[in-house]
This record gives sequence, C-alpha cells and structure tokens, in this order.
Amino acid sequence: MSESLIQVQNLVSGYDDQIVLNDISFEVIPGEILVILGTSGCGKTTLLKHLIGLIQPFSGQIKLLGQDLINSNEKELLNLMRQVGVLFQNGALLNSITVAENIAIPLEQHTNLNDRLIEDLVHLKLSLVGLSHAANSLPSELSGGMRKRAALARAIALDPKILFADEPGAGLDPVTASSLDRLLLNLRELLGMTLVVVTHELGSIKRIADRILFLHQGKAVFYGKLSDALKSDIEPVQRFFNA
Ligand SMILES: Nc1ncnc2c1ncn2[C@@H]1O[C@H](COP(=O)(O)OP(=O)(O)OP(=O)(O)O)[C@@H](O)[C@H]1O
Ligand SMILES: [Mg+2]
Repeated sequence: MSESLIQVQNLVSGYDDQIVLNDISFEVIPGEILVILGTSGCGKTTLLKHLIGLIQPFSGQIKLLGQDLINSNEKELLNLMRQVGVLFQNGALLNSITVAENIAIPLEQHTNLNDRLIEDLVHLKLSLVGLSHAANSLPSELSGGMRKRAALARAIALDPKILFADEPGAGLDPVTASSLDRLLLNLRELLGMTLVVVTHELGSIKRIADRILFLHQGKAVFYGKLSDALKSDIEPVQRFFNA
C-alpha cells in the first residue's frame, strides 16, 4: 500500500449542503492510468480538484505522494503541486503570449533555471508533443488538437510524477483524439508518468485505461481493471459499456 502515489479514503465532499462524493476510496499505483468515469455532473472534476488540493472535503483522507494533502500547509501544498501536472477541462492557455512562452511559465515560476536552459526545456517539451514548429504561434492560431498538445506540454513542463487530465479528448475529432491518447501513452513510457484521466470516450478508455473508477450517484460503484469493467454486471457500468 505504501507504494501507491495517491490514496483516497472515505472521501465525502460537495458544495454547501449538497453531497457530491459520498464515501469514495481508491488508490493509484506508479505507472498506471486510472480513468475516472461517470455521467455528466456526477463529480469527476470535483474529485480531480480534491486530488490537486483546490478544494477541501467534508471528511476523509487524501494522501498524495505519501503526504497528507488535506492537512498540508500552503508551503507543503505548493511543493506537492510542483510534482504534479494538470491538464484542465478547457486547456486554459494564455492567449496573449506565444505557445513557447506559455510553456515557460511553470519553469519560470517554480525553478531557478536560467533563460537559456528554460528555452531548451520548452523546446524539448514541444518536440515531445510534436509542436516544435508552433513555438512562436499564439494559442489562438492553433487548431483544437494542437492547443490540447500545447496545454499538455505545459502540464509536463516540470516532469511531473503524476499527470491529471480532465477530458483531454473533448471537442476533438476521433482521429485527433486517438493520436492524443497515443501521445499520453508515449509520455507515460518516456517520462515514467502516472496518469489520472477523466474521459467519457469509450474508444479512449479502451486505449488507455488500466483501471476504472466509476462514479454513480455519489458512490464509486466500480473500481477495478478495465477488463473486469467491460464484463461487469453492475447496472450503470454495464449500461455505459454497452451503450
Ligand atoms: N463550484 C461549485 N459550486 C457549487 N456546485 C458545484 C460547483 N462545481 C460543481 N458543482 C456541482 O457538483 C456536481 C458535480 O460537478 P462536477 O463538475 O464535478 O461534475 P463532472 O462529473 O465533472 O461533470 P462533467 O462530465 O459535465 O464535466 C454538479 O451537480 C455540479 O453542479
Ligand atoms: Mg467535469
């Protein structure tokens, strides 16, 4: 158990008096890809926000990289967040600066590297996502798929141990979405990353998931291997995979 990178125990959370996540427990082990699934509004993004310390639960425990996340002070939290990458649901690149400048931001904020080294690292990350040619473009000049890859390059700028991605393929055509999946798999290989991904896309799930956490009406109704999820007779899980 001690080797897991994330441990969530009996997490209860929500907004005001509305409970969204009700007694959720799971763990994420090094090198795996955990996919979080469930219908719209079931709390997937909320769960991701907990895992990166953006919101506080009503009760329960979250350990990230062996550290108690909920009781961390600001400095400890910042140090933890330096070790994870996040690809938000809407990409969230700054539109007034170039792609390269966007990717340099985390390196400027969190390291003492000189400009020359930062520039080299930015270009390395851009080449990893196949965007070397777009370094000097503005995000608004890129296609949707390219913007996703640029956001991914920024998310991995600091070589995170864990990458969190909220619907990385949303809004992409199936071919582009599938190449983004291959890219995620490649990055896991190359950088030894562990991934927690929210996605609804069945094709994507089958390509990338090692394990599934299926949320339904506040509960984790299924948590286990993809191969077991595919043959599960739990009603909402079966309905999802046979839709
Ligand atoms: N900041 C907030 N304040 C109040 N309620 C919120 C807030 N954010 C989310 N909620 C509510 O919490 C529930 C879960 O929302 P969440 O965004 O986690 O769902 P989701 O599974 O990510 O949905 P989607 O698939 O549409 O992205 C919803 O009922 C939503 O209305
Ligand atoms: Mg969401």
